[in-house]
Amino acid sequence: MKTHRLIEAVRKSAPFRLLGRRVVRALTLRVRTEREDVVALSAQLGVLQPAVVHLVHVADQNDVCHGFWLNALRVQPAFRRMGIGTWLCRQTLDMARRMGADTVLLTVREDNASAIALYERLGFSTLPSDGALAPELQRLEAIEKRPYRAMECPVRRPEPSP
Ligand SMILES: CC(C)(COP(=O)(O)OP(=O)(O)OC[C@H]1O[C@@H](n2cnc3c(N)ncnc32)[C@H](O)[C@@H]1OP(=O)(O)O)[C@@H](O)C(=O)NCCC(=O)NCCS
Repeated sequence: MKTHRLIEAVRKSAPFRLLGRRVVRALTLRVRTEREDVVALSAQLGVLQPAVVHLVHVADQNDVCHGFWLNALRVQPAFRRMGIGTWLCRQTLDMARRMGADTVLLTVREDNASAIALYERLGFSTLPSDGALAPELQRLEAIEKRPYRAMECPVRRPEPSP
């Protein structure tokens, strides 16, 4: 859904940015194991839950989707553009690293410019559309009737040189 341009303008204003930073500082992380391969992470603000995301681990080496995936990120509309999506993604990347990931993958609709901008700022880059994840992109495109892209972010810090 498109946000009204007046709301967009408010969200870019200095006071709103300041409020966003204060809200982010007050967030706590809640982690729940949904299934053996799915961890749900949520940003909590007291009893409110402004954002959720899933970290999925496809452990089967023979699966084209093998690896760690950031899935189903959603920030409640009233809490958008405060930095909460960025905060929750960082927590997710950190958790993936602690679980042994070298990289984290995701898919996103090509027309989702706001999510793509967020992911690029976090260090995700776009994978070739004819690469190993092409079957997964084709599967999503067949369901949604929209083009998708796959993105990847390195999460392991280089070993310090001796
Ligand atoms: C995409 C989404 C997760 C962003 O969450 P958010 O908490 O608002 O994002 P942040 O405040 O952390 O924004 C970080 C950066 O992302 C980009 N961004 C976020 N919202 C944007 C928007 N509406 N327009 C343009 N860029 C945007 C900006 O670069 C922003 O940095 P800036 O505010 O300094 O310019 C949120 O809009 C959402 O839940 N959308 C619906 C669900 C969705 O599309 N999920 C992604 C599925 S792959």
